[in-house]
Amino acid sequence: MKAVAHSELGDADVLRVTELDIPEPGPGEVRVRVAVSGVNPTDWKGRSGAYGAAAGELPLSVPNHDGAGVIDAVGPVAGGDGASGSAAESDGASDGVGPGAAGAIGAPFAVGDRVWVSLAAYQRPASGTAQEYTVLPVNRVFPLPDGASFELGAATGIPALTAHRSLTVAEDGPSRLAPGALDGHVVLVAGGAGAVGHAAVQLARWAGATVITTVSGETKASYAKAAGAQHVVNYRDSDAAEQIRAIAPEGVDLIVEVAAGRNNALDLAVLKNRGTIAIYANDGGTPFALDIGQNMGLNVRYQFVLGYTFGWDKVAAGAEDINAAIADGALPVGEDAGLPLIEFSLDRTGDAHRAVESGAVGKVLVKVADL
Ligand SMILES: NC(=O)c1ccc[n+]([C@@H]2O[C@H](COP(=O)([O-])OP(=O)(O)OC[C@H]3O[C@@H](n4cnc5c(N)ncnc54)[C@H](OP(=O)(O)O)[C@@H]3O)[C@@H](O)[C@H]2O)c1
Repeated sequence: MKAVAHSELGDADVLRVTELDIPEPGPGEVRVRVAVSGVNPTDWKGRSGAYGAAAGELPLSVPNHDGAGVIDAVGPVAGGDGASGSAAESDGASDGVGPGAAGAIGAPFAVGDRVWVSLAAYQRPASGTAQEYTVLPVNRVFPLPDGASFELGAATGIPALTAHRSLTVAEDGPSRLAPGALDGHVVLVAGGAGAVGHAAVQLARWAGATVITTVSGETKASYAKAAGAQHVVNYRDSDAAEQIRAIAPEGVDLIVEVAAGRNNALDLAVLKNRGTIAIYANDGGTPFALDIGQNMGLNVRYQFVLGYTFGWDKVAAGAEDINAAIADGALPVGEDAGLPLIEFSLDRTGDAHRAVESGAVGKVLVKVADL
């Protein structure tokens, strides 16, 4: 099969189009024929060595955690006679996850099922989605609701799971999302035209929140509005805090934060007492020191969010709610929905990485196959 892989860390030039054997699923695993691969900043950061140099030789690595496609084979039932069976009947032991990880979203998988996947290459370097087939533990695979395109499925993964987690960690807030779950809550999404920001705006609106978002200019403002934000503020305006306070005089309940250091002063100026700042990135890299008195006075809760480690139980719960939102038509992608799709061929996966690395506005995808 055709794949894109690398065996050293470095810039996008390390990515090579290559031929690999089609992998076989083991117990608790399924093989997915990939239609579309989704590219996130973490994919180029991992490829480049930004997370630290790997000790020793890098194993053959296939990039990209997110994707969508069709179940092509299911692994043997754990403890069975080796015959193929429903992947969700197995115990997922290969990933250290107990029974029901896939069953939690009620979907035993069968050959032909349409799915979206996420965190594909986490601790499994050869399992990224920039290849025609990938084998994954069932707890990284989720049914793609009827009518949802493979593009939507590949755009969902890390951005939507990160947004879901960020929206469900607030004090006095819900731990799950559904229509009405955020009724009466004011959510500030920093960077509403980003991939995670877009998903956060959409999920928060679906759950009933009043959504304010910040952007850096007019084009991004129009994308954030198209995503559903009722209020958009340019965070570069010197009176951004006053603008947000005018919209939410009592302050905002929850902030979904992409630039924790740069925005900390703004966040504290608009946060309600007992509010939560959910930090999933520190874009800009600005370090910050907490003003203990101000934070204590506001009873601030800081919640850090990292998709790799926030827990497979949270991933399963997030995927279930996200799928309900997709089924409701609440998570559309594309220019009209505020998230332009920028698609590359599998051969041009390196260019897809370069696009994300240089801050492409929208969602960068790699078309792997017409399925
Ligand atoms: N923790 C996790 O699990 C997790 C998961 C997904 C992503 N991430 C990280 O989150 C970051 C964003 O990912 P993404 O896929 O959403 O990237 P993206 O699509 O490039 O979006 C980033 C957005 O943040 C905006 N932004 C930058 N500085 C800002 C500021 N000070 N205030 C408000 N908005 C600001 C950018 O717009 P402007 O520059 O024009 O403002 C851009 O729209 C990356 O660093 C990524 O690695 C972390």
